[in-house]
Amino acid sequence: MHIHILTLFPNMFTGPFSESIIKRAIDQGLVEIAIHNIRDYTSDRHHVVDDYPYGGGPGMVLKPEPLFAAVAAIRGECGESEKGEAELPVILLTPQGRLFNQRATEELAKYEELILICGHYEGVDERVREHLVTDEISIGDYVLSGGELAAMVVVDALVRQMPGALGSEESAGEDSHSSGLLEYSQYTRPQSFRGWEVPEVLLSGNHAAIARWRREQSLLRTIKRRPDLLERATLSDEERMLLEGMRRGED
Ligand SMILES: C[S@@+](CC[C@H](N)C(=O)[O-])C[C@H]1O[C@@H](n2cnc3c(N)ncnc32)[C@H](O)[C@@H]1O
Repeated sequence: MHIHILTLFPNMFTGPFSESIIKRAIDQGLVEIAIHNIRDYTSDRHHVVDDYPYGGGPGMVLKPEPLFAAVAAIRGECGESEKGEAELPVILLTPQGRLFNQRATEELAKYEELILICGHYEGVDERVREHLVTDEISIGDYVLSGGELAAMVVVDALVRQMPGALGSEESAGEDSHSSGLLEYSQYTRPQSFRGWEVPEVLLSGNHAAIARWRREQSLLRTIKRRPDLLERATLSDEERMLLEGMRRGED
């Protein structure tokens, strides 16, 4: 996968992209990440990227020209005629976008190449949103100072689920949200810590019993913390009955 990030602050990506799972995925060639400085796509002497909002008000707004130029250059690089909008999504990070979740990650993972635009200041000129952008993503109902951290979140979630990105000691298969449920509780050594014991079943060596206990824990956690997720989760008849029992137990 090839991810292009348009930003005014390229250095912000240096640390997060040169550590851990993302670095390994880059080194393995699973993902290529190109950071483009929006300022490099200006055509004036002072490399101006923002201006005052029409109609007045606080803050500055990102001008449309450099963003259109940057996207055109990237499209040109990868053969615009072959890659239309459908194959090369242009995604604006914005608190006004659709909420990012595991399902959105899976959707985006289908693309070979995509562009992420990081806004800043008061945001971007509306014509970017109307005529350049094909998708808008928010990472939560709060306002960040810029789209950079949001882009990092999207990249991390995308890379994590790429086959081969996680080492043998890690696994995404049972992560919270991957099955529509929250993950079960995890324990490691010591077996007894300050008098708090690891559940007996995890020490039993009985793999079927452990798997059953974990699935029950997942259901229990989800019903307690995020009951909204259960509406979309894929559950067996047995699990549905278990869930009913848990619900009755809560009443
Ligand atoms: C200070 S915000 C601008 C907010 C804008 N005035 C509004 O109310 O929609 C600056 C930039 O940060 C990014 N940003 C802020 N919050 C975000 C969020 N929750 N998800 C994704 N990007 C966000 C966007 O790229 C945005 O253009």
